[in-house]
Amino acid sequence: MDRACTDCLVLAEDQDELKAFKVEVSAGLSASPKRLHSRFFYDKTGSGLFSSITRLPEYYLTNCELEILRKSGRKITSLFGDREFNLVELGSGDGSKVIHLIDPVLAENRRLTYLPIDLSASALETLTGFLCRHSPNLDVRCIVAEYSSGLQWIKNHVHGPRMVLFLGSNLGNFDQAEAETFLSTVRQGLEPGDLFVIGLDLRKDIETMVRAYNDSEGLTAEFNLNLLRRINRQLGASFDTREFRYYST
Ligand SMILES: C[S@@+](CC[C@H](N)C(=O)[O-])C[C@H]1O[C@@H](n2cnc3c(N)ncnc32)[C@H](O)[C@@H]1O
Repeated sequence: MDRACTDCLVLAEDQDELKAFKVEVSAGLSASPKRLHSRFFYDKTGSGLFSSITRLPEYYLTNCELEILRKSGRKITSLFGDREFNLVELGSGDGSKVIHLIDPVLAENRRLTYLPIDLSASALETLTGFLCRHSPNLDVRCIVAEYSSGLQWIKNHVHGPRMVLFLGSNLGNFDQAEAETFLSTVRQGLEPGDLFVIGLDLRKDIETMVRAYNDSEGLTAEFNLNLLRRINRQLGASFDTREFRYYST
């Protein structure tokens, strides 16, 4: 296993996640309208499909954030002056974005600890493998956890200034009440002087958005249908995904 992967802390055990999945699926599919929470998209197959989606030209969010971080990564990390700090990333993904914050710090021989928090162990394994190759001197401590328990653990165990990242317009995965609870959880995890960096989409023409969330290669459709397959695999359901069509609105 890669060096960084050995530094992985697991707060969300598979058993507990399976229980939460069962409760959410049962409640969500009994509700009207039916709903399934987006946090369950990211089993191993789902995390892989999401990485492929971020490389599609239609999925403009990734390229847009990459452009901002490439141009302004150094400016953002210099907000801590030349102090050592902890870079905490919520729902980290494959690392293609965060290196634009990590590289300028390491180039100045400053110390940095990177702490990605994600429920998907497989996403974190891909990420840490990539970082071991890209930045072998980086101190990486990955945390397999739900956002709130990961942040609480960091608050109790990690000292020094923190920059918390939440990219990809992920706030859009929450409804209004969930978004408020999430933001207040983040706030409680911060000390005076810490920073929160959030990436949010802007209003734009509807065709651009529809193309981003219903790509021509059908990867987003697969990503969504994989959630039904996950319910089949892990909860013993019998959805026939050939009977389902994917729409994005
Ligand atoms: C849409 S992806 C975003 C990845 C990356 N930040 C980006 O901008 O491309 C969301 C990531 O957050 C993780 N995630 C979703 N809900 C979560 C939760 N409640 N707690 C921890 N991780 C979560 C997923 O496993 C997934 O890796």
